[in-house]
Amino acid sequence: MILILDFGSQTTHLIGRRIRDIGSEVKIILPEEAIDFIKSHRNKVSGIILSGGPASIYEKDSPQVSKRIFSFNLPILGICYGWQLMAHYLGGKVVKGKAEYGPAKLRLLSNSVLFSGIKKKEFAVWMSHGDEVVKLPPGFRYLASTAAVKSAAAENSQKKLFGLQFHPEVRHSQYGEKLLANFVTKVCREKLSQRTIKIKEIIQEIKREVESEGKEAKVVGGASGGIDSTVAGILTAKAIGKRFLPLFCDNGLMRKEAKENVVEIFKKFGSVNVKVLNCRQKFFRSLKGVVDPEEKRKIIGRLYVDFFEKEAKKTEGVKFLLQGTIYSDAIESKGSKHASKIKSHHNVGGLPEKMNLRLLEPLRNFYKDEVRKIGRKLGLPKEVIQTQPFPGPGYAIRILGEVNKKRAEKERLADEIVMDVLKKHGWYEKVFQSFAVLTGARSTAVKGDARLYGEVVAVRIYGSSDIMTANWTHLPYEVLQEISSRIVSEVPDVSRVVYDITTKPPATMEWE
Ligand code: XMP
Repeated sequence: MILILDFGSQTTHLIGRRIRDIGSEVKIILPEEAIDFIKSHRNKVSGIILSGGPASIYEKDSPQVSKRIFSFNLPILGICYGWQLMAHYLGGKVVKGKAEYGPAKLRLLSNSVLFSGIKKKEFAVWMSHGDEVVKLPPGFRYLASTAAVKSAAAENSQKKLFGLQFHPEVRHSQYGEKLLANFVTKVCREKLSQRTIKIKEIIQEIKREVESEGKEAKVVGGASGGIDSTVAGILTAKAIGKRFLPLFCDNGLMRKEAKENVVEIFKKFGSVNVKVLNCRQKFFRSLKGVVDPEEKRKIIGRLYVDFFEKEAKKTEGVKFLLQGTIYSDAIESKGSKHASKIKSHHNVGGLPEKMNLRLLEPLRNFYKDEVRKIGRKLGLPKEVIQTQPFPGPGYAIRILGEVNKKRAEKERLADEIVMDVLKKHGWYEKVFQSFAVLTGARSTAVKGDARLYGEVVAVRIYGSSDIMTANWTHLPYEVLQEISSRIVSEVPDVSRVVYDITTKPPATMEWE
């Protein structure tokens, strides 16, 4: 197997995912557990990857690994922070360099087993770093550079040690998977076998977990209409039938069609009825005057939990709350010890500590595209599979500043226009997510000869396949124009429309 030491990168699990997709067994562990693990699995580990991480190696409490890691003579690939740490340990020099976030052009300087099968001499890779290696350790040579970083790739071929400053695990790094595959197969000489997702096993596992609380144990779960909660819900319905009680919390912050679709889909594919409850007043009352994004997320998280707990109490024997949490939700809400917290996703980090229900999260280890694959295997219709992800806190995190009924309506109107225009021009299904944001900023306009000091609406439309990285969609100007014209003329009190052209990283997809 390939052992990944997790220094807290947002994409550590993605490295694992790629290695798994290549067909090798993989294990992610904390660096402090690495030495013991290798000693007790000496014949199983064929190579090590040191992940990236948010820290700088010179920070006081930055995560470290024992230098004994180099004593096993195993191939090691260091990525970003992992590379800097390796260079530092082996006598190289790391300094605070020119920070780079997003795309960079990689220029190959010499041949390496890592680049075998790659014909191009220049290609795009994704960077996300502040520090850089400015002097290679003895025995290393430069393999590739970018305009900002000379040591973008380096190796000590004799010792089978490799360093990459960029992230080969993200889709936006061209040939990233090839690089990882070369490391796994040509350097570590791993034997490969293809992993397949077995739905039957997921269903059995759900049944086993629920029934560990008793044969009659019941599960409540939110059905938001999104692909994750739909797939999690249908799997659970298949596992335990009517002991699964799906609920739709109609809080005024969801897309309009979600409610109707969800009721129909659960009935058709899971043979269960979704109970729809009107929670609008409660949500708007609790969000009154709240402007801080984290506070909003926490409040909404709490409201959801209260809602589910209250509903759960109405039925005897409810032991679990089902959540459609997928892997990226978990990692962005501080999924591992050394990772930094980005946002409290309502379905993970925002949950109050003392919840009287156990969490059931059958999709916790899957990525969005894998969840879609499961959905397809379950026979769900194309519209459900293609539904854009919609965040749990809904429009609340797309309305900067206070969330109230009036602003929620305004946001919905603008959002529907974006959706409408994209659908009309055949772009809706080509993008990963698209939405309007009420920025809270004001600007001057002249509408019908009168001055309007109205709100600025931002439009965010982007492509992504792994959620960890995203690029804004280069839409045709006519489409952008139509969106802009329609929003300023149809949504009251809007003075201006701007297009968000920021990649992720550094910007997250949602504004809050
Ligand atoms: P960010 O903004 O973190 O978004 O780059 C990554 C993906 O997650 C969605 N998102 C959420 N989903 N609960 C969810 O279920 C949340 O609290 C939440 N916040 C963001 C976002 O829409 C994007 O697809």
